[in-house]
Amino acid sequence: MINTGSVMDFQTEMITEGNVKVLVPKLKAFVKSPSEYAPSKAPVFYNPVMELNRDFAVLAVQAFQRMVQREISICEPLSGCGIRGIRFANEVKGTKSVLMGDINRRAVKLANYNVRINGLDQRVTVRNEDANRLLANYAAPRARFDVVDIDPFGSPVLYLDSAVRALRHDSLLALTATDMAPLCGVHPKACLRKYGGKPLRTEYCHELAARLLAGCLAATAAKHDLGIDVIFSYSANHYVRVYATVKYGAKKADESIKNVGYILHCFNCLHRETAKELLFHEQSGKCKECNSNLSIAGPLWIGRIFDRQFCGLMEEVAKERKFELAGKIEKTLALIKNEAEAPITYYVTDKLCHKLNLAAPSVTKLIEDLRSSGFQACATHFTPKGIRTDASTMKIKKLLQEIADY
Ligand SMILES: C[S@@+](CC[C@H](N)C(=O)[O-])C[C@H]1O[C@@H](n2cnc3c(N)ncnc32)[C@H](O)[C@@H]1O
Ligand SMILES: [Zn+2]
Repeated sequence: MINTGSVMDFQTEMITEGNVKVLVPKLKAFVKSPSEYAPSKAPVFYNPVMELNRDFAVLAVQAFQRMVQREISICEPLSGCGIRGIRFANEVKGTKSVLMGDINRRAVKLANYNVRINGLDQRVTVRNEDANRLLANYAAPRARFDVVDIDPFGSPVLYLDSAVRALRHDSLLALTATDMAPLCGVHPKACLRKYGGKPLRTEYCHELAARLLAGCLAATAAKHDLGIDVIFSYSANHYVRVYATVKYGAKKADESIKNVGYILHCFNCLHRETAKELLFHEQSGKCKECNSNLSIAGPLWIGRIFDRQFCGLMEEVAKERKFELAGKIEKTLALIKNEAEAPITYYVTDKLCHKLNLAAPSVTKLIEDLRSSGFQACATHFTPKGIRTDASTMKIKKLLQEIADY
């Protein structure tokens, strides 16, 4: 029996997540009303709702380790109570070392305690340091990490430069962004300021959020002659997560920058298209389906945001063990694998039907009808009402009208 009574000077409790037991702040003790966001009221950050985020992180890092087939070093410079880094060390086979850090002294004390009770002192270190300073210490060749996981409050952009500098050739970077208001176009100025791209308040804004973050990462990496490839991304519970591999070389950087462009959206008819550059569109600026003015999102990542093979590898890893959230993990991975090679941006049936003044059919029905008309069509993990298809907006609307008339 572990005596946790006097470890910290605030109320704590022992929880189990994945294969580890960790001491965390007793969240109930820090909220005065149910509307308060408990994780940020506690003296050390811990959010139980992010279990899925950490499960996917464990899966993605294990899948990456299998892909590269070498022992890996991991850095998690914003570690809170240490649960994520401890899970990496305990659950990802082939993990050589984990370096965690946090600017909050009490977080470091708690994380150190959690490292000890999990018997990981030999492979896990925790530093009380600013994330950028910590990463900067590992920017030299041979000191760099195989994996860096940036999981901050709000935006990860403040840490992008130091994160890419601390990554070796053929490495993995994982980013969480919780600042969905800027990324989804509620605060467009903040998005432009932070991510260097313009968002749009469209029905597929969560995909745009992942693309704005990936675009910003590609631009940052390119400054250091690094190229990125986005191999997995998703959104859940008001955050977006992007996983990208990082490779060295000016040519790799040039290649990855080619995936940065624009998405043009028509708010009148919901048509959308991508553009590598804006020269032509600046002159016309008109929707080719209804001739209304097009709105522009970007610059952002217009390349793939999921790799089907990598999703398959994550599925394999997931099947080898039991997660508390196994059902959710399995369902999300299946959806992502299925949409991995589908066209960019999704339609939302309710939004289309609202324009047409029709009741929305089931997504399954619309997908079936699109497929039997010869189009590619599939669901998306981003929303249960979403479909990806290569059919034009006009064609989808025609089909919806036919379904309603039938
Ligand atoms: C969202 S929490 C991390 C949660 C953790 N990754 C997990 O999975 O449970 C963000 C953490 O970053 C820490 N932090 C904030 N600014 C920092 C900085 N500049 N350098 C290092 N840590 C920082 C906070 O103290 C907090 O513990
Ligand atoms: Zn239009």
